[in-house]
Amino acid sequence: MTGSSLSSGTGPPPLDAGLIAAGQPLYDVHCASCHGIDGTGAEGWKTPNADGTYPPPPHDSTGHTWHHSDRQLVGLIANGSDFAQSRMPAFGDRLSTGEIEAILEYIKTWWGPEERAAQWEITQQEA
Ligand code: HEC
Repeated sequence: MTGSSLSSGTGPPPLDAGLIAAGQPLYDVHCASCHGIDGTGAEGWKTPNADGTYPPPPHDSTGHTWHHSDRQLVGLIANGSDFAQSRMPAFGDRLSTGEIEAILEYIKTWWGPEERAAQWEITQQEA
């Protein structure tokens, strides 16, 4: 959150401290049980379970959450995954879009500058 806005004008904006503060407790309650309190996911998350489902992936730089645009991620969290055998619950009946956006802002604190910049690009391209 120390990036200078004077440098280029094309990088991601600083994360919103208010949104992060709102998102953290929501993440801890709704998401941490599967994705880990620090977003590190389940060990061996790339290997399917015996029933064809997948363990919860990490949300930090080692995962691929940052490969998706903001719109895709908010939609996935609200509606669940489009993977038929997913264990990822849909949260649209429990969380407002604003709450989901706050959780996403908190998740972004786990990304390094490169992941943040890449995900910002993907989000901008889609806008
Ligand atoms: C019951 C366990 C569980 C809970 C609780 C849960 N998830 Fe998930 N989540 C999963 C699983 C399993 C996947 C793997 C994808 C699949 O199976 O479709 C996943 C996938 C995801 C993805 C896609 C990641 C990627 O790399 O594409 C996002 C984003 C996500 N979860 C966010 C959340 C958020 C935010 C919360 C809390 C509001 C949450 N999840 C709560 C189990 C869970």
